[in-house]
Amino acid sequence: MASSTLTITDNRTGKRYELPIEHGAIRASDLSQIRVAPGEPGLVSYDPALINTATCKSKVSFIDGERGILRYRGYPIEELAEKSSFLETAYLIVKGELPTTSHFLMWQHNIKMHTLVHENIKQFIQGFRYDAHPMGILIATAGALSTFYPEAKNIMDLESRRVQTRRLIGKMPTIAAFAYRHSRGLPYIYPDNDLSYTGNFLSMMFKMTELKYRPDPVLEHALDVLFILHADHEQNCSSTTMRTVGSAHSDPYASVAGAAAALAGPRHGSANEEVVHMLHEIGSIDRIPGLIKQAKGGERRLMGFGHRVYKNYDPRAQLIKKIAYDVFEVTGKNPLIEIALELERIALQDEYFVSRRLYPNVDFYSGIIYEAMGLPVAMFPVLFAIARTAGWMAQWAEMVLDDEQKIVRPKQLYVGHDERHYVPLDQRREGGAPEVEVHGPL
Ligand code: ACO
Repeated sequence: MASSTLTITDNRTGKRYELPIEHGAIRASDLSQIRVAPGEPGLVSYDPALINTATCKSKVSFIDGERGILRYRGYPIEELAEKSSFLETAYLIVKGELPTTSHFLMWQHNIKMHTLVHENIKQFIQGFRYDAHPMGILIATAGALSTFYPEAKNIMDLESRRVQTRRLIGKMPTIAAFAYRHSRGLPYIYPDNDLSYTGNFLSMMFKMTELKYRPDPVLEHALDVLFILHADHEQNCSSTTMRTVGSAHSDPYASVAGAAAALAGPRHGSANEEVVHMLHEIGSIDRIPGLIKQAKGGERRLMGFGHRVYKNYDPRAQLIKKIAYDVFEVTGKNPLIEIALELERIALQDEYFVSRRLYPNVDFYSGIIYEAMGLPVAMFPVLFAIARTAGWMAQWAEMVLDDEQKIVRPKQLYVGHDERHYVPLDQRREGGAPEVEVHGPL
């Protein structure tokens, strides 16, 4: 039987090395023994953007990008979307197993106990300008929570980790809704714990003068499914940030603020916002070819298309497309869906997109549903962050308890100047070093 090793011959020295292969990987640190001479630096692997580097072992979610498979803790995303609820899925992600009835009731109770925020958080949010982006408010407020719960720094304490997890999952919808109400100059609505997780969120967003807000069950369910689909996605940019910040043993609030900041980027969780802007900009089907031409010419990206891992289809996009029609039954059809469907049809036939294996991702249809539900575009990445908090906390706890993990500190390949010596300011030639002016990074 073939042994699970990799034999490497270093042609600089003629030496051979045998490296063990485990879980389909070699350890990058095993490469460090490969050196030209004693005292010389050992070989490193160079992997910008960590495209082919596993940085952890994880049991949370599994993706097979070729076959379009996503599972949380082994359960197919399609089954969870059809049969589970967001809070149950959050339990599964955080704790590793589906709950029994009594555990689920306790979990629900524990999350609801933490939906309120300290009154000073309201004032903190009040301090933002009226037009502050809600994602900026969410990032800052998540970080600010760390000052309210200083005991969160006890990251090795199980009970502390549990409490911060419940707090974060419980408070994210409240902070998100307050951020929205702030932008509209509307009074903040306190949580209604008689409602479901998503029903309460809709209440905090949209309740006006009525005594009791009653969410439409179809929209409440659609949002719940969307939250399930966004709850975790293995080592994406924001979860990697969560692990990286957390690896310094910063508290989970600081780490979630970092993860949310990563999610805010248009190449990650803000893509859903960009998709809707793009579809509005297209405006009518006859303008699609112009956009496709721009994308193919490298002038812009087709937002909501492409994924680092999924190369055939994103299973979440397929599920979301189905929910869109349930939502439209209640809200009326969002006219953007026709543009989106036609854009997808044309792109999927085009050699440029086919050869690069660019398919609609989770963000392509989610924004259209959110918009139909009356959720403002700026809130789309915020909705993503609420759901992803479950995944961030699970990934963070896994990192904290993993004996192999240390503070993240990658290597670099230094390609800058060799040693040079300081020239006093008055002796530097004016107009010198033109490359700095022309090519400098900042
Ligand atoms: N539109 C047009 N061309 C694209 C797109 C796109 N959306 N995405 C990738 N390409 C092209 C690139 O220009 C590149 O072409 P080239 O080989 O001729 O240079 C090729 O496809 C590969 O692109 P990369 O940037 O190398 O792919 P990568 O895996 O690094 O990027 C990403 C993945 C960031 C998702 C990218 O596809 C993208 O920017 N998509 C649009 C933004 C988006 O929808 N992001 C949401 C992702 S899902 C999520 O985060 C929840």
